[in-house]
Amino acid sequence: MITMKHELIDLLKDNEFVSGQQIANTLGVSRNAVWKAIEKIRREGYEIEAVTGKGYHLKSGEDAFGENSLRSALKTKWLGKDLLFFDEIDSTNDEIKRRSDKGAKEGLLAVADIQNKGKGRRGRSWETPKGVNIAMSFLLKPDFSPDTAPMLTLIMALAAAEGIRKLTGLQALIKWPNDIVINGKKCVGILTEMTAEPDYIHEVIIGTGINVNNTEFPEEIKDTATSLYLESGNKWSRSETAAGMINAFEGFYEIFKKSGTLKELKDKYNSICVNAGKRVCVIDPKGSYEADAKGINDRGELLVVTDDGKEAAVYAGEVSVRGIYGYV
Ligand code: BTN
Repeated sequence: MITMKHELIDLLKDNEFVSGQQIANTLGVSRNAVWKAIEKIRREGYEIEAVTGKGYHLKSGEDAFGENSLRSALKTKWLGKDLLFFDEIDSTNDEIKRRSDKGAKEGLLAVADIQNKGKGRRGRSWETPKGVNIAMSFLLKPDFSPDTAPMLTLIMALAAAEGIRKLTGLQALIKWPNDIVINGKKCVGILTEMTAEPDYIHEVIIGTGINVNNTEFPEEIKDTATSLYLESGNKWSRSETAAGMINAFEGFYEIFKKSGTLKELKDKYNSICVNAGKRVCVIDPKGSYEADAKGINDRGELLVVTDDGKEAAVYAGEVSVRGIYGYV
């Protein structure tokens, strides 16, 4: 939803002072609606000064991103109620692990502006430079067997796509199992880490990196990466972006917990899975092959049909897929 909020912020940014009546006229809303919108963005952390006879003035034009703005945007029952915000940290996944080792409870959320040792999948690094993106991780202690863990990553992907779609109206799609792509480029990455015994999960840490307002990328990913800003032409509140995803995750996780499977979520997932119905290259350690992807099953495995007509279920922990013409 491209809200009045963004038009209001743009208007405030473009003017030293702007009266309530001017805002109401420009945006075509009532004075009361202007007042409510000003209060809402104040609660998100924007510093707005009101001077009698002059109007409103935006003191800090920067995106408000901190504990207060996050708390005011979070609508969850348990996820993120324990919230840590860092201006800078090595990795939010590592911070959650340290806290978990000291007995932190399920639902602890760590969010950072900068990560100086952010981790990607397969041993790669993940950059979260100052002032533009989101790094966040949370702690789960699910009462399921360890082989359910990959499904949690898929649920996070679904929540991230849902959050982006609701906030921005962008057509965010999921590249199985857990990258979010917009117009064929990646804007969200998820790293799930687990400590477990063969039949018991100690903890699962779900870490999500979101490219929100950045315009620059490391050389090696610059052709395949994007941000919400680059795709929409609008800057987005990082607090609202993060909270939208966390809110969605909590709802989806509650549904997942009823059965320990994705049976109630898979149709939603498949409806926005970029690979469903496409030709893919399955990158299997035992050998890569091409196949037609159908969509996920109840366990989050990708169902593919090989050229000899056989159906196979591809497990996210072991293999990845590529579109046959490139990244998706
Ligand atoms: C990927 O390679 O696509 C996964 C990237 C995951 C990055 C996030 S940012 C928050 C959390 N902390 C980390 O160190 N990594 C994850």
